[in-house]
Amino acid sequence: MSVCRAVMPKIDKALVQQSFDLASTSYHQFTGLQRLIGDRLIDQQKESVVEALTVLDVGSGTGYLTRKLSQLKGLKHLYALDISTAMLNQTELNTRGLNLTARICADAEQLPLQSASVDAIYSNLAYQWCSELQQAFEESNRVLRQHGLFAFSTFGEKTLIELKNAWRSVDQAVHVNTFIDQQTIERYVERAGFSEIVVRSEDIVVHYQTPMQLMLELKGMGAHNINPGRNVGLTGVGGFKRMMQTYELMRTEKGIPATFQAVYGYAKK
Ligand SMILES: C[S@@+](CC[C@H](N)C(=O)[O-])C[C@H]1O[C@@H](n2cnc3c(N)ncnc32)[C@H](O)[C@@H]1O
Repeated sequence: MSVCRAVMPKIDKALVQQSFDLASTSYHQFTGLQRLIGDRLIDQQKESVVEALTVLDVGSGTGYLTRKLSQLKGLKHLYALDISTAMLNQTELNTRGLNLTARICADAEQLPLQSASVDAIYSNLAYQWCSELQQAFEESNRVLRQHGLFAFSTFGEKTLIELKNAWRSVDQAVHVNTFIDQQTIERYVERAGFSEIVVRSEDIVVHYQTPMQLMLELKGMGAHNINPGRNVGLTGVGGFKRMMQTYELMRTEKGIPATFQAVYGYAKK
């Protein structure tokens, strides 16, 4: 069966970069969820990495995962890579004294690293920003040494389903980022040439006091809508209000629910 690579709309990389540059200083206060998923990404590993001398963190952001990776046994070289220079500056600030080998400003879809030069690649919540996800996985495969470990987390298609449904009561425009489904993600890992693949997911439901609190948090994390098809400037106050009212109807005793489907992938080259 063929899988169309164009499942994801083309994402404007300049916008991603700009969005994370702007969020770089506020980001840390909004990242409870990212940290939780980053912790689970490491904790759920079937086997710990043996002889991971050279490790790459793709989409290092403010460096939470990079810090954790610096504890890996036998580590010699640790690279932090991100598309946003402002985020890389935060990685540096938050990993002071940990002997980070280098910070690399680059796109996960075009890694500026030699083939077969890395023992393990980790990535926490960066691949949802790649429109050519299979290419990004192929790049990871290329730079890994034989038997190297690939471990990543990303968001699956159920992410922000309540917000999407609330917007659907207003119009059909793309108001929320599109996330790829778990099966397609798994197929992309396979097609990129990996083996021993394990992909699993969990739905994490976070509750907010108001829909606005969720929207502000998404903005603070640099995760607001950047998909093409977004209704730039056309929604208007009325539409936004209607969306908020519909979302209010989903309130439970815990508050306004927002589902985040965390997809975890583990594979070997
Ligand atoms: C949600 S943050 C995750 C940060 C970090 N991994 C953590 O655990 O806190 C996503 C990061 O991925 C970066 N990013 C987005 N698209 C990227 C791409 N195509 N290549 C490299 N980094 C990218 C963003 O700049 C941002 O710093």
